[in-house]
Amino acid sequence: MRILVLGSGGREHALAWKLAQSSLVQALFIAPGNAGTQSLTLANGNKAQNIALSPNHFPSVKEALIQHRVDMMVVGPEAPLVKGITDYCREQEELKDLLVVGPDKKGALLEGSKDYAKQFMNTYGIPTASSCTFTADQYNQASQYLETLQPPYVLKADGLAAGKGVIIEPDRKTAGKSLKEMMSGKFGEAGDKVVIESFLEGIEVSVFILTDGVHYKILPNAKDYKRIGHGNTGLNTGGMGAVSPVPFADALFMKKVEERIIRPTLKGLQAEGCLYKGFLFFGLMNCNGDPHVIEYNVRMGDPETQSVMMCLQGDLAAACMSLQTGTLQNTDLTTGTDHCVTVVAAMEGYPGSYTKGHLIEGLYKVKKAEVFHMGTAEASSGRAEASSSRVVTSGRRVVTSGGRVLAVSAVGSGLVEARERAYEQLLQVKFEGMYYREDIGCDLIQEYDLIPEEKSML
Ligand code: AMP
Ligand code: GLY
Repeated sequence: MRILVLGSGGREHALAWKLAQSSLVQALFIAPGNAGTQSLTLANGNKAQNIALSPNHFPSVKEALIQHRVDMMVVGPEAPLVKGITDYCREQEELKDLLVVGPDKKGALLEGSKDYAKQFMNTYGIPTASSCTFTADQYNQASQYLETLQPPYVLKADGLAAGKGVIIEPDRKTAGKSLKEMMSGKFGEAGDKVVIESFLEGIEVSVFILTDGVHYKILPNAKDYKRIGHGNTGLNTGGMGAVSPVPFADALFMKKVEERIIRPTLKGLQAEGCLYKGFLFFGLMNCNGDPHVIEYNVRMGDPETQSVMMCLQGDLAAACMSLQTGTLQNTDLTTGTDHCVTVVAAMEGYPGSYTKGHLIEGLYKVKKAEVFHMGTAEASSGRAEASSSRVVTSGRRVVTSGGRVLAVSAVGSGLVEARERAYEQLLQVKFEGMYYREDIGCDLIQEYDLIPEEKSML
């Protein structure tokens, strides 16, 4: 099987890393990929290959798919899905045998429009926060609606806003100001509609499934650390770390998630005429043991995928291929017994402005964890460096090319062990301006991981 993974982040590196382990994979392409994906080796000994293209430029994607005789494309980011890459591929005669792992435009609306997602959940009885949607010219009505809610106030730009479209304000005055900014185009077209919803109190967990639209496999769950600062302070980011699995998501909680959320969502999609093939991410709030949906994402998360792939057992390539044949149930994906902690190393300044092109040193020293590259690129010449993907390429020089640079993911038999290992291994890596949170996983360990010997290590 010949596979192309579309995207360039840590999520795509982790997906490609897992896919590369399957003996079914003959060739693996990552478009455009990063310095980490370029160094992956497949089970058959072949090297993975990056293809320089923009995931949102569909004709270039088509050309690459044809040129490299790709059987299956796994779409990493949301933007091409919301823009309709799956529908586009279906319409191309030359791509009629291609399987796209990723929903069509209709399915992608679950992430592409928060208003649509709310309507969908209300129609199909899926628990979520109560809400009301307003167009940009309805400031007064929206403002009156705010009066009916208790603080804190949750405002959401309807469209895609690179993870920045949700604002939570502590009081009525700041909420009014943010509402005005949103409606005045702060988020561009994404703010043409604004969803205002009640605040849900609880602990968050992300649940992921792979589905062919009817059957589904639950992947290891995860918790993401979205804020830039220690103790969940400061600005929102794409995610500064992730832990998998999450201790409180026990069998009883997951049973409720299946009955109240996963199955009604798939039934709803079918009723809407969407046969959803791909990953579906449920951002949930555990409110006193009852799961509520905060958001849907129509793809995997970054950096959650890094932790999820480390804990996932079984052949991901075979499971993805089975989406075409309706045989997902017969595949062997399961959650292993290990825990994983992923810590993201970012550039100083992120999520604001930051510099690029800094040399990353010590990648080859990471032996007891995986390094998943996020914003990295290969510089053309210089001193040899190698990644923990165990491929040493002479003359490789890896430099930073993004705000979130790389993630170190380590497994352990408990969260404490995994966390210790992740930080110990992260310290092997260095680049100028390197910043990371020191508290990834601490909250969960303190609250739930009650094994005495593990606690004493804290
Ligand atoms: P999102 O960009 O949709 O992932 O939202 C960002 C974050 O805002 C979520 O991860 C939650 O922490 C928080 N959030 C969103 N909606 C709510 C809500 N209704 N109640 C409480 N927190 C929320
Ligand atoms: N880490 C959050 C996301 O990928 O949406």
